[in-house]
Amino acid sequence: MVRVRIRLAKSGDCRALAEMRYRFRAETESVAEIKSRFVRRCTSWMKKRFRPGSCPWRCWVLDDGKRVLGHVCVQLFEKIPNPVNDEPELHAYVTNFYVIPEMRGQGLGKRLLNKALSWCRARGTDAVILWPSPASKSLYCQYGFVAPSDIFELRYGALSTAFPSPGKRMNGQRR
Ligand SMILES: CC(C)(COP(=O)(O)OP(=O)(O)OC[C@H]1O[C@@H](n2cnc3c(N)ncnc32)[C@H](O)[C@@H]1OP(=O)(O)O)[C@@H](O)C(=O)NCCC(=O)NCCS
Repeated sequence: MVRVRIRLAKSGDCRALAEMRYRFRAETESVAEIKSRFVRRCTSWMKKRFRPGSCPWRCWVLDDGKRVLGHVCVQLFEKIPNPVNDEPELHAYVTNFYVIPEMRGQGLGKRLLNKALSWCRARGTDAVILWPSPASKSLYCQYGFVAPSDIFELRYGALSTAFPSPGKRMNGQRR
């Protein structure tokens, strides 16, 4: 059996990571950008952010010695200093969690998630947040993630349809 290790992403991984990002999103949604353009844009974005020791982004990859099989990313974001209760002053956002389809169901995803979450814990983060795909909810629940009742999310796309802002008219009038 091939030995798969987890390591931090390097600059040389970014093109493969960008291609996987495209594959990830195209698995469940229709894409609006041609692949070559997206891969160029995303590679350049990742090269600036995913370097060993980089902050606030970290990206870990699964590597079998020949290619990258999956990845997970974390972005830390600061809270304003707080004078109460030793409350941690960092949150973490987990994103871009992906294992290529042919390698799923062998525990690799859990290894990646363990790595990312133990790093968040070691950094003393307060909340770890993410937006789960429907199929991954049960996996996150195993790690203690819950859907909180005390957080609000504002999505401008949804809002502009449901509550047109002043000056905008629906039904073909002034858009
Ligand atoms: C989610 C994902 C990274 C898990 O990777 P994996 O290597 O299959 O995970 P593991 O083998 O360690 O664990 C599998 C567990 O994940 C669960 N799971 C979650 N989402 C899954 C999915 N889309 N496909 C297969 N299993 C999934 C399985 O039920 C399983 O739980 P179990 O151990 O209780 O049976 C992988 O399935 C994937 O890339 N899915 C598509 C992208 C995605 O949905 N990412 C999460 C975005 S929030």
